[in-house]
Amino acid sequence: MAKDLAFTCSACGAATSKWSGKCEACGAWNTIHEDTGLSVAGPKKTSIGGRRGKTLALTDLATQEAAPPRTLAGVEELDRVLGGGLVKASALLVGGDPGIGKSTLLLQAAARFARNGLKVIYVSGEESNAQVQMRARRLGLDKSPVMLASDTNLRDILTTLEAEKPDLTIIDSIQTMWADHVDSAPGSVSQVRTCAHELTTFAKTHDMSVIMVGHVTKEGAIAGPRVVEHMVDTVLYFEGERGHQFRILRSVKNRFGPADEIGVFEMTGRGLAEVRNPSALFLSERGEPAPGSVVFAGIEGTRPVLCEIQALVAPSPHSQPRRSVVGWDGGRLAMIMAVLESRCGVPFTGLDVYLNVAGGLRISEPAADLAVAAALVSAREDAALPKEAVIFGEISLSGALRPVIQTENRLKEAQKLGFTSAIMPRAPKGTGASGLELREMQDLAGFVEQVFGARAN
Ligand code: TYD
Ligand code: MG
Repeated sequence: MAKDLAFTCSACGAATSKWSGKCEACGAWNTIHEDTGLSVAGPKKTSIGGRRGKTLALTDLATQEAAPPRTLAGVEELDRVLGGGLVKASALLVGGDPGIGKSTLLLQAAARFARNGLKVIYVSGEESNAQVQMRARRLGLDKSPVMLASDTNLRDILTTLEAEKPDLTIIDSIQTMWADHVDSAPGSVSQVRTCAHELTTFAKTHDMSVIMVGHVTKEGAIAGPRVVEHMVDTVLYFEGERGHQFRILRSVKNRFGPADEIGVFEMTGRGLAEVRNPSALFLSERGEPAPGSVVFAGIEGTRPVLCEIQALVAPSPHSQPRRSVVGWDGGRLAMIMAVLESRCGVPFTGLDVYLNVAGGLRISEPAADLAVAAALVSAREDAALPKEAVIFGEISLSGALRPVIQTENRLKEAQKLGFTSAIMPRAPKGTGASGLELREMQDLAGFVEQVFGARAN
């Protein structure tokens, strides 16, 4: 059966039996490639049923195995995303667009872990030793006890690791690595999978942690980091807008801690600096209240983060008005505009709509619904919202507002940053008094009525 699945999507790793222009699984175009490596490296045809293996030692759920030791980097933003430090013998993947700052982040992390007592090897398949050394000098890390190598041959790298016995190895990047027993080019799905698998297995059997860098690629011929996500313990993505100085490290999968945790960094001439209070930073560029600008009290992982949501609504010169979104889901925007139109009588026909989450943050919480709706109506009516108010709440298709998780934490963070009121759905019973004036709304129509009065029509 497996032999027939000879084509693989380089974006998501889905296997199919025939070539097609578009991947059925993830919808990407021109990413299906014939996979010669898989059948070579695949399981043998002969059955193992007849031959005996050894009996596994079974255990029960109650017996407590000692938790694996962790090492702190001493950078709070990084340690929190890792779930409380780097776990011994774990495999991590750090994905991100080319040029976003992955190599810089990992060189800085390598130096931190080395200073905290780990033996660290940094293997670069993209840059020469001299280039990495130059970067280290620029970052002020050239005295750190990190060992460097510049190679792409997996066999040589594993032999070196076996001899050196490091505690942590960084592979930059997995797409440049090349296993000589697999018959395809570096960067192909089978090469990337084989290298990631060999490195992960090596790490588990040799008590070494490994961090692999994976470029997110738009090109079909190079496999993206998603094809190895299932093999590793922790998947982190390093994201941010090119033009902004903020970078966000987000955990999308973590076997040793909460997923969806974020760490916020600021890019400087001397590398990445951690941002302990991201809310203050995301709101720092805010001036006087302007129409279309709203402060959303969000939660990222375990931490409340306040940010600004901006909307611009303008008459459209086109027959098909534009809807442009940065930092939020376009489908969700369409839904909120539909609810505004059919439940509150606020149409957007003939209007271009632009929505932006300031600072390069990406929000995926439905709790931002009400803030987005508020920004849209505020922009459309050219009426600013009260400066001292934060907004959050989920909107259902009926137009009702639904309470959201961690209401209390959102309110506390807002109060800490000097806000005095919150516009939100009915608070769940038992929400502690926060000192903020709470304006609890039952539905979206009521919200538009109360906040924008008779103007919204
Ligand atoms: P780099 O770490 O090489 O990106 P990646 O490994 O993801 O491709 O960083 C890209 C460029 O940005 C590089 O020229 C260095 C620069 N940079 C800074 O100047 N300061 C910073 O804090 C960071 C993260 C990057
Ligand atoms: Mg790099």
